[in-house]
Amino acid sequence: MALRSRISGTGSCVPRKVVTNQDLERIVDTSDSWISSRTGIKERRVSVGETTVVMAVKAARNALKSADISAKEIDLVVVGTVTPEMIFPSTACLVQSQLGIKSGAAAFDVSAACSGFLYALDAADKYIKAGAAKKALVIGVDQFSRIIDWKDRSTCVLFGDGAGAVVLSAGEGERGVLSSVIHSDGRHWEMLYAPGSIQPSHFEEKAANDYYVKMNGNETFKLAVRTMGKAITDIIEDAGLATEDIALLIPHQANIRIINATKERLKLPDDRVFTNIEKYGNTSAGSIPLALDEAVRAGRVKDGDIVVFVSFGGGLTWGATVVRW
Ligand code: UT7
Repeated sequence: MALRSRISGTGSCVPRKVVTNQDLERIVDTSDSWISSRTGIKERRVSVGETTVVMAVKAARNALKSADISAKEIDLVVVGTVTPEMIFPSTACLVQSQLGIKSGAAAFDVSAACSGFLYALDAADKYIKAGAAKKALVIGVDQFSRIIDWKDRSTCVLFGDGAGAVVLSAGEGERGVLSSVIHSDGRHWEMLYAPGSIQPSHFEEKAANDYYVKMNGNETFKLAVRTMGKAITDIIEDAGLATEDIALLIPHQANIRIINATKERLKLPDDRVFTNIEKYGNTSAGSIPLALDEAVRAGRVKDGDIVVFVSFGGGLTWGATVVRW
């Protein structure tokens, strides 16, 4: 029988500091009613000392605990992040070191913005299916508070910090990842990007000098609705299933209106779509695994359920995964 990757544990971590919409009213020209009605966000978490690695390690420890395995059993660590603490080593190597994961395990980061977790999951799933890893730690984490312009109301109200992690275990049988796809279209990189502090070699001078996240919100919104809807129908078909089989859809939490439009497109009832955007905003690569962990801990996922993840983000990148729980 073919090998599958089973999600045997989940964990998450968010910073303690809560920043409400009312708090933001004091920083930029915005209002709770604008943010709530346009995005569904009420509050977000902002790191005070809880860096990318701190959040990743805590989320990973919680996932190992829920999988009831020791860090020593992990032979692959993949981290999706665009806010690493250092250019190198990778966040994955720092996580490996802090958790005491054995020397010789493989550890690397993937950069796919809000799709970072699904890219990391896709990579780890393929290692497991190929027999190249038995137990993988897959983490999605971002600390956007570091790369947001807190004077720009069009972006600062949208994002928050957070992390989520899963343990993937190789096994035979019907449960586990049934299908996983990742996609990109680099032609649209200017829709959502953060130039960062590295001097880019082939971008214009103005982009190089500007550090913070930039987004064409309207265009990103339209593409996100179209792309996520199609990604779900394609992957469900690939897995030999129908949308009615979806027990729980866990979409990237960027905007409640994007999630609702996707839900309507697929004719999914409310109770089959998980959202927690009101508490955390858009946590980029942390978004899906953080929502998954909350869904699991709230008893929303039962053995045998078909669970679907879908993401969309800078790159442009997008991805989808179907799991039989
Ligand atoms: O995770 C990766 C993917 N990211 C996304 O999917 C994000 C996609 N985009 C969105 O979620 C939405 O486009 C936004 C939430 C970013 C914006 O919502 P919108 O309904 O598209 O608003 P808009 O950009 O069309 O702006 C409408 C108005 C503008 O004022 P005028 O020109 O109509 O006078 C903005 O200046 O709202 C204004 N505005 C704000 N007002 C109060 C923009 N940001 C704010 C703000 N507070 N924070």
